[in-house]
Amino acid sequence: MCQVIAITNQKGGVGKTTTTFHLGTKLAQEGKRVLLIDADPQASLTVCFGIRDADTLDTTLTNALQAIVEDEPIDPEMGIRTHEEGAKLFPANIELASFETAMINVMSREYIMREFVNIHRPNFDYILIDCMPSLGMLTVNALAAADSVIIPSQPSFLSAKGLDLLLHSVAKVKRSINPTLDISGILLTMVDDRTNNARDIATTIRASYGDAMFKEVADVQTADMLKLPVPEAHYHNVVLKPSEHQKEMVADLSTRAERVRNKMVNSSEDNMLLITNDGRKLALDQRLVNPMLPDSDTGKVTACANIVYDIWQRTTPRRSTQMVFCDRVAIRCYK
Ligand SMILES: Nc1ncnc2c1ncn2[C@@H]1O[C@H](COP(=O)(O)OP(=O)(O)OP(=O)(O)O)[C@@H](O)[C@H]1O
Ligand SMILES: [Mg+2]
Repeated sequence: MCQVIAITNQKGGVGKTTTTFHLGTKLAQEGKRVLLIDADPQASLTVCFGIRDADTLDTTLTNALQAIVEDEPIDPEMGIRTHEEGAKLFPANIELASFETAMINVMSREYIMREFVNIHRPNFDYILIDCMPSLGMLTVNALAAADSVIIPSQPSFLSAKGLDLLLHSVAKVKRSINPTLDISGILLTMVDDRTNNARDIATTIRASYGDAMFKEVADVQTADMLKLPVPEAHYHNVVLKPSEHQKEMVADLSTRAERVRNKMVNSSEDNMLLITNDGRKLALDQRLVNPMLPDSDTGKVTACANIVYDIWQRTTPRRSTQMVFCDRVAIRCYK
């Protein structure tokens, strides 16, 4: 029997589309027949399937819902797209936004998507509906068409605040439009367990909605956790003789340091931290301490720029990429 699940939350950017895409793809990989319906004019789910020009598509959810409103027959194959991810997609585009406005004047306007979904039920094990971030007529339609609802929510104060409103709306739809609608659960998304704030809010949400919570959470995958490949570094240590200006300025730095050590200056005017900072800048380029000083051919910045240029010339035929990072005390160059 087909399970229709609406993935919804009126708050934007909480992971609705990501949840729909990954859940659908995983179910399809397990051999289930899955249809994903993009019910958001932003068309993010459609884009997830590699369709970048959704606005030029011939058949989208808008045409299908329009056909239902106009009582036209619908071919169950119409508009369904198959992709290598395994799940099938019914795409959307921006036209859905104006359709939502026009829906207001239609009879039985809450049930248009249910009729569309019911046409597809016999051919699928799961139909997942990716809702837009609002509690408007399209979302009400998705809730009216669904057997259950998954609510992705981020562990943040504002997301937690919006949950009450959402659960209230779901309860209202259940009372008046779809009595068999179930809440599958609240799915915490983008949980970074390493921050106290996320942990505290997750605990608060669990305390308030414990029964409705999924035990698993979709955690945040940061670059260090993903263990992405890091380019191999080849270090060039650039050692140079100081220019006359640098020598003078180093002498000046040591005089300053002597005065600080002998407590001859107020530490708010000059202190060892400032002197160390100036020393580092000076080691890199005299102009970092005094922009009026000349660009010296033997300066470290010039030497590093020459190395970067040389690498660029040597690797251009291989079309290799070079990244140059520079802060006030060091230059790093990766290729
Ligand atoms: N578990 C996760 N870890 C890290 N990033 C995530 C995770 N889930 C989603 N994201 C990222 O968060 C952003 C918002 O996700 P998504 O588009 O799925 O939210 P949405 O609720 O569908 O947004 P909208 O309300 O605009 O439709 C995307 O850039 C997505 O890649
Ligand atoms: Mg989305």
